Amino acid sequence: MSNHFEEKLQRRIYFSRHDACLLQVKVFWPFKFILNNFRLKGKVTIITGVASGIGEATAMLFAEHGAFIVMADTRDDLGNQVVATIGLNKASYRHCDVRDEKQVAETMAYVIEKYGSLDIIYSNAAVLGRPMDNILDMNIEDFDYTMAANLRASALVIKHGARAMVARNIAGSIICNGSIASSKGGSGPPAYTISKHGLLGLVRSASSELGRYGIRVNCISPFGVATSLALNEHSLDPNRLQSLGSSLASLKGVKLQPKHVAEAALFLASDESTHISGHNLVVDGGTSVVSNIMSIITD
Ligand SMILES: NC(=O)c1ccc[n+]([C@@H]2O[C@H](COP(=O)([O-])OP(=O)(O)OC[C@H]3O[C@@H](n4cnc5c(N)ncnc54)[C@H](O)[C@@H]3O)[C@@H](O)[C@H]2O)c1
Repeated sequence: MSNHFEEKLQRRIYFSRHDACLLQVKVFWPFKFILNNFRLKGKVTIITGVASGIGEATAMLFAEHGAFIVMADTRDDLGNQVVATIGLNKASYRHCDVRDEKQVAETMAYVIEKYGSLDIIYSNAAVLGRPMDNILDMNIEDFDYTMAANLRASALVIKHGARAMVARNIAGSIICNGSIASSKGGSGPPAYTISKHGLLGLVRSASSELGRYGIRVNCISPFGVATSLALNEHSLDPNRLQSLGSSLASLKGVKLQPKHVAEAALFLASDESTHISGHNLVVDGGTSVVSNIMSIITD
């Protein structure tokens, strides 16, 4: 009798577990899948440096995930083309030279006027500067230009973007594009390396100050993406740059694409990184943290 009762109970437990699993698979998972497909639903975003490369790929990905995007650059034709691809209902373009405080402030005001909010800032615009420069005969005008485009610009973008967030009580996410040159010498021209080191300091400083408002500030540090910044200045072809990147990375079989960096930005922009601030997310296949010392000894 008691065995029969236990058996019935077990069966009932089994079926209710089975039903719960079915419910999860058939109802909640597709629902979760749909939600996951819109990880930035309704989030208002500004991205600088969107006319090509990583900025363009990020704008596309953020739009796929439901964000509204204001795209800022100085190459208006290319920027407007990206907007046309995404659609005017989701994106708009603003001419903005990020070195100029007035233009940056006006661009943030435009975002607020258009959407009434600002949730995500991606400070991505940058220049490489003169690639063959070195510290012994460095051109100081080029140094100033590179520092202005890479470091001063991000400081301005954070200043005016964070002001808009704080004024509206928005616990937003700010992301800056660093580089492995943010933490290693010799991986870029001197002015670029110095500006990207400074950028990491800016990210850490801003994250310490803006945390009290619930605003997160993080950095992404890629290496070896075949974009106009990396290719044009060095007159390299994309395959050569990607092969160089692969040969230096410990992770083999992956050619770093703008989309891989965009996916890291999506993570830092979304609620999935809710407790991450002041972080430098390196996207370089292990290049900056491995050395070939052991292979030299053992080979
Ligand atoms: N490509 C790489 O391997 C690599 C590696 C490390 C870091 N990064 C960083 O990624 C970011 C994006 O670069 P990318 O590789 O996509 O190159 P990219 O040249 O395709 O994009 C840079 C964009 O910034 C814009 N820009 C430059 N100066 C500007 C200014 N003063 N005002 C407004 N816009 C300006 C350019 O017009 C361009 O659209 C940069 O911060 C770069 O330092 C790239």
